[in-house]
Amino acid sequence: MESAKSYIEKNKQRFLDELIELLKIPSISADSAYKKDVLQTAEAVKKQLEKAGCDTVEICETPGYPIVYGEKLIDKKLPTILVYGHYDVQPPDPLDLWESPPFEPVIKKTKLHPEGAIFARGSCDDKGQMYMHVKALEYMTETNQLPCNVKFMIEGEEEVGSSSLEWFVTKNKKKLANDVILISDTGMIAKDVPSITTGLRGLSYVEVEITGPNRDLHSGLYGGAVANPINVLAKMIASLHDKNNHITIPGFYDEVEKLSKKEREKMAEAPFNIEEYERALDIDAVYGEKGFSTNERNSIRPTLDVNGIWGGYTGEGAKTVIASKAYAKISMRLVPNQDWKKITELFKNHFESIAPAGVRVKVKPHHGGQAYVTPIDSLGYKAAEKAYEETFGKTPIPQRSGGSIPIVSLFEKELKSKTILMGFGLDSDAIHSPNEHFGIWNYLKGIETIPQFYRYFTELSK
Ligand code: BES
Ligand code: MN
Ligand code: MN
Repeated sequence: MESAKSYIEKNKQRFLDELIELLKIPSISADSAYKKDVLQTAEAVKKQLEKAGCDTVEICETPGYPIVYGEKLIDKKLPTILVYGHYDVQPPDPLDLWESPPFEPVIKKTKLHPEGAIFARGSCDDKGQMYMHVKALEYMTETNQLPCNVKFMIEGEEEVGSSSLEWFVTKNKKKLANDVILISDTGMIAKDVPSITTGLRGLSYVEVEITGPNRDLHSGLYGGAVANPINVLAKMIASLHDKNNHITIPGFYDEVEKLSKKEREKMAEAPFNIEEYERALDIDAVYGEKGFSTNERNSIRPTLDVNGIWGGYTGEGAKTVIASKAYAKISMRLVPNQDWKKITELFKNHFESIAPAGVRVKVKPHHGGQAYVTPIDSLGYKAAEKAYEETFGKTPIPQRSGGSIPIVSLFEKELKSKTILMGFGLDSDAIHSPNEHFGIWNYLKGIETIPQFYRYFTELSK
């Protein structure tokens, strides 16, 4: 039987070309100007799933962007793997910081990717990683080695909160029934340090608006006499952390899961070099909550960050003005047991309560989701572990990630199955940033490793 390695070697140019075609379509879900492109991407994914061997593929309409659903069911007695991914991408701005246009993919060598990496928006998050699964399926069907049933569910709204997917999943529980969910939409520690993501943080995303006087005012005539909404907003935001960088919202930490000393020691074993970390980001020191390491701060601890802030005059030169309004977008990353709806409520009550007289506050919740942790003794985890051992020659390290895929906890609640997160990206791949890229080595290694997961999961299920 032909090995994945040899099949990939023979087909790698085509595997790259096909991904590049997909990356050319600007499927930006956040911007309605790209609606046609998002829909066209769904069609392209459908076509590729059909070619790769799915027996049926449909474009499932939703209140938002469609979900591409495909399946190949070979035997009721065999286990079923549900693959999830997303075909939408983040907006590419700021455009002037891209070395090559975000939707004109190019291959360039980098220090960490001497074999070359594909530079394009969505190359790693998540078109490239999603497409590894399509090519892994092609390999298994073309060489008659698909060991179990497979379902694909590829959505187009992950980057804007997956609200249509929630609707779809609750309506289609039977259709989506599975024994394990498999996702490649996270990262790994390093090319020589394979890891399996065992946790994702939850999220609460809100927008705040501070209104002062009913119009923009002359900052000389009125300055000092009325509340300046931008000054007030800055003060209010600054008060959300104390001197130890703890979050000051009452009740915020009430439900936060406490890790044992042993668990924290285990976490600290993962290779991490603080100097390299600082150098890669051009910072002279890390910063964060007192009492926790960098790896803990960005995985097992909740956070509050301003993602954008605006108001007043930001054009060229100077304009003397006190703005009528100031705004900010704020995200809170949450950990297991924190309920995102409750946290949103706590934020809203607190933020409204700290506003001084002279301004009005509006808090508008956007979207959110619960955190996720998965045990390392499940069948799925063991199958993934064996798969990596086979293709990397090393046992992968379990790692909790700071990112969020809010829909994963919903899968567990609605479909009652565990999710295995086999990510192949690197932190330095710049997802959501200018010059996002995905290593060719990582792409091909993913295609090689995924069929091993299918094989071991089926074997262990017997
Ligand atoms: N793929 C990412 C999440 C991710 C990346 C998790 C790397 C772990 C490691 C996903 O597309 C994403 O960007 N999620 C958003 C949340 C979403 C609701 C917009 C995030 O984490 O900001
Ligand atoms: Mn993603
Ligand atoms: Mn993303």
